[in-house]
Amino acid sequence: MKMNEKGVGSIWPAVIFVVAVSLCFASNVEGGCSRSPVIFNMGDSNSDTGSVLNGFGFVRPPPFGRLFHRYVGRVSDGRLIIDFLCENLTTSYLTPYLKSMGSSFTNGANFAVGGGKTFPRFDFFNLGLQSVQFFWFQNQSIELTSKGYKDFVKEEDFKRALYMVDIGQNDLALAFGNSSYAQVVERIPTFMAEIEYAIVVSPPFFFHGYIHMLFVSNFLIIQT
Ligand SMILES: *[C@@H]1O[C@H](CO)[C@@H](O)[C@H](O)[C@H]1NC(C)=O
Ligand SMILES: *[C@@H]1O[C@H](CO)[C@@H](O)[C@H](O)[C@H]1NC(C)=O
Ligand SMILES: *[C@@H]1O[C@H](CO)[C@@H](O)[C@H](O)[C@H]1NC(C)=O
Repeated sequence: MKMNEKGVGSIWPAVIFVVAVSLCFASNVEGGCSRSPVIFNMGDSNSDTGSVLNGFGFVRPPPFGRLFHRYVGRVSDGRLIIDFLCENLTTSYLTPYLKSMGSSFTNGANFAVGGGKTFPRFDFFNLGLQSVQFFWFQNQSIELTSKGYKDFVKEEDFKRALYMVDIGQNDLALAFGNSSYAQVVERIPTFMAEIEYAIVVSPPFFFHGYIHMLFVSNFLIIQT
């Protein structure tokens, strides 16, 4: 994408905006950093760690997965930003919510799906739908943990988790398909409004209950 200085200036706030992030995970809990990290991620192929592979059985040929010596569901020959983040926090790579076999979700879950967009809200597997999946994951995780299952996130850990959203590139790419640069820029606020909806408005989905009831404060929102 070629942009002049003015263009860069006007698009920049939409490209990357970090709302709040505290990788310490300490803000709400006693014991803080000593506890193992819990991460929930939503987004598109930039952070899909296997949703398209597990959900659609879509296997890509080499060089995809080259670093792992097999295809591991990433649209990459190696690791994604979220993988590097997990490595840095010395936790295992995030398990896709759609991976139904042999899965452990003790350090969170990844709802990101390649091709995911912000709009239309509940189209497969756009952000709105991913937030619904998160809501059900939370519900089942709490219920199963209370029955003694070990592979899920405990109720108290939802509050101290890091919540990440990395979405928007597919909305932009589609918009560029049939619109001028100026028209695309005009539409960016509607994409951002969808992210805001998923995070703070949409009851009872996603972060809503947590922002208001549990004081979650760890967010990283990237629109790449
Ligand atoms: C994580 O990143 C920080 C900041 O770059 C660095 O100081 C630290 O050593 C990294 N930790 C690991 C385990 O990679
Ligand atoms: C999970 O959802 C069911 C159905 O809506 C509800 O009855 C139950 O209370 C929920 N459980 C938790 C832990 O939120
Ligand atoms: C451009 O494409 C998008 C995505 O397919 C669609 O929602 C929109 O209505 C189209 N706009 C025009 C002007 O054709």
